[in-house]
Amino acid sequence: MIKSSIDKATGFEKRFENIDTVVFENSLGASKAVAEEIAALIRVKQSQKQPCVLGLATGSTPKGLYAELVRLHKEEGLSFKNVISFNLDEYYPMQPDSVHSYVRFMNELLFKHVDILPENVHIPDGTLTKAEISEYCNDYEAKIKALGGIDLQILGIGGNGHIGFNESGSLQNSRTRLVALDHITRVAASNDFGGLDKTPRTAITLGVKKIMEAKRVILMAWGEGKSNIIKAAAEGPVTNLVPASFLQEHTNSVFVMDKSAASKLTRINTPWLVEKIEWTEKMTRKAVLGLALKLKKPILMLTDADYIENGMSDLLADSGPAYDININIFNNVQHTITGWPGGKPNADDSKRPERAEPAKKRVLIFSPHPDDDIISMGGTFKRLQEQGHDVHVAYQTSGNIAVADDEAVRFASFVCDYNEKFGIKSNEAHAIYKKAIKFIKTKKDSEIDISEVRHIKGLIRKGEARATAHFVGLKDENIHFMELPFYETGTIEKKPIGEADVQITMDLIEKIKPHQIYAAGDLADPHGTHKVCLDAIFEAVKRLKPKAFMKDCWLWLYRGAWQEWGIDEIEMAVPMSPGQVLEKRNGIFKHQSQKDGVVFQGSDSREFWQRAEDRNRETAELYHQLGLAHYAAMEAFVRWEY
Ligand code: F6R
Repeated sequence: MIKSSIDKATGFEKRFENIDTVVFENSLGASKAVAEEIAALIRVKQSQKQPCVLGLATGSTPKGLYAELVRLHKEEGLSFKNVISFNLDEYYPMQPDSVHSYVRFMNELLFKHVDILPENVHIPDGTLTKAEISEYCNDYEAKIKALGGIDLQILGIGGNGHIGFNESGSLQNSRTRLVALDHITRVAASNDFGGLDKTPRTAITLGVKKIMEAKRVILMAWGEGKSNIIKAAAEGPVTNLVPASFLQEHTNSVFVMDKSAASKLTRINTPWLVEKIEWTEKMTRKAVLGLALKLKKPILMLTDADYIENGMSDLLADSGPAYDININIFNNVQHTITGWPGGKPNADDSKRPERAEPAKKRVLIFSPHPDDDIISMGGTFKRLQEQGHDVHVAYQTSGNIAVADDEAVRFASFVCDYNEKFGIKSNEAHAIYKKAIKFIKTKKDSEIDISEVRHIKGLIRKGEARATAHFVGLKDENIHFMELPFYETGTIEKKPIGEADVQITMDLIEKIKPHQIYAAGDLADPHGTHKVCLDAIFEAVKRLKPKAFMKDCWLWLYRGAWQEWGIDEIEMAVPMSPGQVLEKRNGIFKHQSQKDGVVFQGSDSREFWQRAEDRNRETAELYHQLGLAHYAAMEAFVRWEY
C-alpha cells in the first residue's frame, strides 16, 4: 500500500488536510506507486483465490497508471485473470466504437494489452434508451454488491471537484444514474470533441454512495491546474459543492499527487503555518508578500504585530524588527522591475535582473504555438526589438490543429475562386485546394485531417505569426518556423518528445548563439504541447552547456496564456504603458484564426487578448498593492538556471 505520509505521532496536527495525502516528485513516480499497490492487491487476491474488484477511471490522469499496469503485465507477469473491473462512467449517448467512448479508451490503454477476461469488464452502456437507464444502473450496482463491493477505486478529480461524473451538488448518498454534465466539465472535454457544441451534455456515472463504499479509494491529481480544487477537497469543509471532499469521511482513502497539484496545500504553500521552517531568502519573500496581500497592506506598512498574529513571529525574532524585513523585501521586489529586458547599457547592473553587457544582445524567443510570443510577452518582445537587440523568434509547432475547418475552407476557396475568376488554368495546386475543401465538407466528427488540410491550416497560422513578427519589427530572416515533429500527428494526442525535436532546437540555438533565450515555462497547457516544447529546450541547453557561447546565455521563462507566475517567483517584471497595452492587443489581433470562438478555448471563455490584458494588468496591480509603482500592465519572467 502507498505509504501514508501522516506522522503517526502527531496525526493530522502538522497539516491542515483532513485526508491522507501523498506527494510525489512527478506523476510518473506517483503512477508507478499506485500501480504497485494495485498489483499487490491483485496478487494477494490471487493467492486467496478471490476476484479482485477494481473501480476504474478514464481521463488524462490515469494514463500513466494504465501504462505501468501494462508494463507489469508484460514484463513482470502480472495477470489480470482474477480482475473484475467496473468503470466509473460513460458519456451518454455514446457508441462503444466512437473515438470518444470510454470503452475505446479503456481498450486502447489497458484491456487489450492485458489478460483480463472480457466478461469481467464493465463500463456503463451509452447506447441504452433513456427508459432503460434506471434499471441498468440498479443492475450495475447489484453486480458490484454481489461481488462484495469494490476492493480498490481509482479516481481523478474534475476542476469543479467532481468524482466520476458526480458534479458539484451531487449528494453523498447519490446512486448510479444519468447526470447532466457541468459546463466546466463540458468545456474541459470540448478540446477532445472538437468544440463545445459537439460535446455530450449527459453521462452515466457510478454514484457517490458506491464510491464511498469501496474498501480503498485512491484519488490521483497531476499539475497546477488541479491545485486549487485539491486544496478545497483536502482542507475545506465536506460539502456537496466539492464532491471529492466527501472522501474526507472515508476511512481508507488517499490523495496521490505530483508536486504541482499539491502546491496549494497549506503545508506546502505556507509551511511556516504548520511547523518551524528555515527562513531562506526565497521563503521570506514568499511569506512577506503573501502577508502584505492578505492584509491588503503595502509591504512597508507591515508591523511587528502583523507578523506575530500571522504565524511569522519566528521570522521576526530571527530577522526583525518588521521594518528591516520589510525594507529588504521591498528592495528585492523593486529590483525585479525593469523597462530594459535586454539589460540597460552603461548602467550599474548589480541590482538589475539583466546584464548591461553586451549592450546589443542576440535574443531568441521560443513560442510553442504561433501566438504565444505576442500573447505572453508581446510588450517585452517589442521593447527588445526597439532597444536595438538582434531579436529572433522561433515558432516551435505549426499549431495547425487549432484552426477551424471553415477557416481552412475560406482560404482554400479564395485560391480556387481566384483561379476561376481570372481563368488561371486548373493546375496541381488548384486540385489540392479542391480536394481539401471536399474533404472538409464530408468530414466526419473527429476524423483526422488529411495532410493537404493540415498544411493549409499550418500555412494560415504561419501567415499570422509572420504578420505579428513584422508588426513587432522583425526581418524575415529572424523569423524561424521549426515545425517540431512531435506535434505533427494531426490529433490532440501528441507524440512524446523525440531526438529530432531536440536536435532541431539545438541547431537553432547553435546558429544564433543567443545571449538571452525566452521560453514558455507553462506546464498547465491543456494539451501538453507547451510542456514538450519546454522539455526540448531544457534538453537542448543541457547538451549545449559545455559550448563557450552558452556561458553568456541566460534562459528566461514566461508563462503561456493560461496563468501567471506567483508574485513571489517573478525575477523580472517588464512594465507597459496604456499605449503599449493597446499596441500588444493589435499584435495579438494578427492571429485571426484564434479569435471569436477558438477550437481550443480551455476552461476560460475569454479571448486570448483579453486573458493577456487581464493577466498583465493583474500583475501590475499586485505590484501596486505591495506599495510599488503603479503601471498599466506588466509581463513577468523567471530566470532558469540550467
Ligand atoms: C473519468 C472521470 C472523471 C475524471 C476527471 C478528471 O472517468 O470520472 O471524474 O477523473 O474529470 O479528468 P482528467 O483526468 O482528464 O483531468
